[in-house]
Order: sequence, then structure tokens, then C-alpha cells
Amino acid sequence: MAILITGGAGYIGSHTSVELLERGEELVLLDNFSNSDQRALDNIKKITGKDFQFYEGNMIDRELLERIFSENQIEAVIDFAAYKAVGESVQKPVEYYINNVSTVLVLLDTMKKFNVKSIVFSSSATVYGDPEVVPITEDTKTGNTTNPYGTSKLMVEQILKDLYHSDNEWNIAILRYFNPVGAHESGLIGEEPKGIPANLMPYIARVADGTLKELSVFGNDYNTPDGTGVRDYIHVVDLAIGHLKALDKLRKDKQGMHIYNLGTGVGYSVLDMVKAFEKANHVRIPYKIAPRRAGDIATCYSDPTKAKVELGFEAKRTLEDMCKDSWNFQKQLK
Ligand code: UD1
Repeated sequence: MAILITGGAGYIGSHTSVELLERGEELVLLDNFSNSDQRALDNIKKITGKDFQFYEGNMIDRELLERIFSENQIEAVIDFAAYKAVGESVQKPVEYYINNVSTVLVLLDTMKKFNVKSIVFSSSATVYGDPEVVPITEDTKTGNTTNPYGTSKLMVEQILKDLYHSDNEWNIAILRYFNPVGAHESGLIGEEPKGIPANLMPYIARVADGTLKELSVFGNDYNTPDGTGVRDYIHVVDLAIGHLKALDKLRKDKQGMHIYNLGTGVGYSVLDMVKAFEKANHVRIPYKIAPRRAGDIATCYSDPTKAKVELGFEAKRTLEDMCKDSWNFQKQLK
């Protein structure tokens, strides 16, 4: 039996595939390389010394999905395939809803047809909007998302809840990621955004290697210890391991509907990140204070207790590991 990984060549998909292969799982990967490339697949093989089935295409393609389910014995799906650029989603809402919602409907319908009812879904802390209190537990109110990307994640969460309500044989884990950063320790896979990075860590890494001149710190007048935004950064390998734990839970329980935060429970500010990156890698990150970015919130960090108690999951990698591994990956790109 195999696990189908949609978006398997992407940032989180590739790291999760490595962890799954290393513990001996059989995998089928699907990707259309919209925000990833073939090299990630070669590097997954290089790191693990293991092989997997690969299909190139889009999840909206029902014929392709049916072929995948016919040609392989799929036990469960881990669904990573989605667009994730917040700013772009505001410009292209229709494309985002098609790619992040319609595709999942085709996937779920195909899963139903082949009687595969186990799925781990990639969601985001963005579904909490601007939370009234931190740390954020899974019971914190969701909604008031500030962009179509966030709304698309919330919509799929609702679809999955409705699906489970209609048929309790489904076995669903929704994982709400906080801020994934870092890269595999080999430096072979990591986050490689196309164009100028929108997210903090990839931006810092490109300032470090000289591709970008300086970091703009978006606002230093938030109600936080140093005035800059506070987030819960989690190492992507820890995040990947969270998926393995979620899969274990699905296998154990056979059916159910679960939601977990995947974070560390610790918040760091933008300036904390700059300092940590400088210290870990002996580089300088020039920065300037810039106006707040539209849609940003002051503080967002998780209460990771539920994942710890129910999944036995705890993020182990430190802020120093995140900074070192990001830099290690960035350096080999040049
Ligand atoms: C964003 C998305 C989140 C998504 C995540 C993907 C929102 C509001 N945020 O999170 O949904 O899952 O990316 O990783 O929907 N910053 C700077 N300068 C920069 C870039 C960022 O100061 O050049 C600051 C931001 O203002 C923020 C922090 O760094 O305080 C983190 O920003 P970012 O990495 O973009 O992540 P989020 O906005 O938290």
C-alpha cells in the first residue's frame, strides 16, 4: 500500500517525502511543478537512496487521478498541492480558489470512488485570522481571513468537516501550520521561491548571500516586545515529522476527524530572527524599518499541546538549526 503525496516536489511535500521514505513507506508523488522543480525529486532520491512513483500533472485532472488510483494501491493521501502566496491570491482569487479548492473536490471525489478515505490536509494558522488571544489553540475561533489564500484553506477545512459529517468512515487530519522555515540538513532540498521572496526567512537568506541589498522590516510599532511582528517559526523537518505522526494516528484510529496546530509554541520577532540568523551563520543582515505590510497581524503563535498529547509530536529543532539549515541550503543555490 502506498501514500499519495500531492505537491510532493514542493517545499513541505519534499521534506515529508524524505521522512516517509526513510522510514520505509511506499510513495506515489504528484506534482505539476507550478512552484517546484524536477531537481527536488532527484534530491529526494539522493538523500534517501530510495525510489518512488511519480506522476506529473494537476490534481484538477480527474483522468490522471483515476489513473493514479488504478495503477497504485493507495492507502492514504497527504495533500500539499496548493498555491500559497498571500499577495498573489489577492490579485488572482479565481485562480486560487480553483487551484486550492476545486482541485481538492476532484481529489475527494476520486478517493470516494476508489474507497480511499484517509487524508492529511495541509492547512495554515492563517485560518485563525487575527486571533483575540495567544497562544492559539485548535478551539480558537477561525474566520475573518484577510486574503483568498487563507479563505481557500478555511473552505477546504469546512468541506472536510462536511464530508466527515456525511460519512463517519472518513479518516481526516487537518494540520494547521504556523511558519515553516529551514531546510533539510543535507542542503539538497529547501524553499526556493520564484522571484523576490514574500516570506521573511527566504528574504533574509537572499540578503545574506548578497542577492538582495537589505531587509525591510514591516513595522516596528506593533504591540510586541520590540515592536516588530511575532511568529511561531517551525523547522520544516519537524513539520514533516508532524505529518508522519498524523498518519500514524489515522492508521491507529481507522476513522475520525482531527485538527492539530503544528508549531513550537514559542514566538520570535522579526528582529529576533535577524539576530539569530546573523549569530548562527556569522553574516550581516542589513535592514531598514519600513511601513507595516497590509493584512499583517502583531502576534501569532501556537499552543502545541494537543499535537503533543494526541500525536506525541513535539518540534525539536531550535531557532539556530532553522537559521543554519536555511543558510546551508541558500549557499548551494549560488
Ligand atoms: C504568511 C501568511 C500565511 C502563510 C505563510 C507561509 C498571512 C497574513 N500570512 O505568514 O498565511 O501560511 O506566510 O509561510 O496570511 N516580514 C518583514 N519583512 C519581509 C517579510 C516579512 O518584516 O520582507 C515580517 C512580517 O511582517 C511578519 C513576519 O516577518 O511579521 C513573518 O512574515 P512571513 O514570513 O511573510 O509570514 P506570515 O505573514 O506570518
